[in-house]
Amino acid sequence: MNYSQIQFCDRQSKIDLYQLQELLNISAFWAKGRSVEDLGIAIANSDPVISVWDNEKLIGFARATSDGIYRATIWDVVIHPDYRGTGLGTKLVEIVLSHPRMKMVERVYLMTTHQQGFYEKIGFQANTSTTMVLCNQSNLNSLSTAEIQLQETLGG
Ligand SMILES: CC(C)(COP(=O)(O)OP(=O)(O)OC[C@H]1O[C@@H](n2cnc3c(N)ncnc32)[C@H](O)[C@@H]1OP(=O)(O)O)[C@@H](O)C(=O)NCCC(=O)NCCS
Repeated sequence: MNYSQIQFCDRQSKIDLYQLQELLNISAFWAKGRSVEDLGIAIANSDPVISVWDNEKLIGFARATSDGIYRATIWDVVIHPDYRGTGLGTKLVEIVLSHPRMKMVERVYLMTTHQQGFYEKIGFQANTSTTMVLCNQSNLNSLSTAEIQLQETLGG
């Protein structure tokens, strides 16, 4: 395969949400069936958003959320199955890490089920002791605006 035409892009506006939906459906077990609308929300609230292109075909994607200095998390790292094993995944993660929103950050987190070896080669370490998860926010969502204002007044 000729990789000379492969390009990395850090513009959110470049993302074709329909191509991204298809790429995630074939490449990412955790992100199958996501709607185009919800993907648009996720992208709008992520920075950096890095895409990988073979001419006009989206063949890779990763995004992160970051406070710019203390903590950041990388999400949805994928390379199309036809393009794996040639270093594109490593370069994709390195571009995310070197982005201005990421490069000052003290700790960069990610969650992975099967790809620990891939990330260890980039420099990540296993971290089993500090992670917790809340799977839905229905309790928070049911708080009324008045209750939230009261809790803020009380310093809660
Ligand atoms: C993980 C993924 C992004 C890697 O992309 P890639 O382009 O194949 O990665 P690279 O070619 O840069 O691989 C870099 C190195 O990691 C190795 N590697 C890749 N996956 C690995 C794994 N699961 N375990 C151990 N090593 C792995 C490669 O063999 C290569 O080693 P080398 O430098 O000694 O040759 C790609 O396999 C993918 O999209 N997988 C499905 C989605 C996924 O699981 N994403 C991660 C979610 S957290």
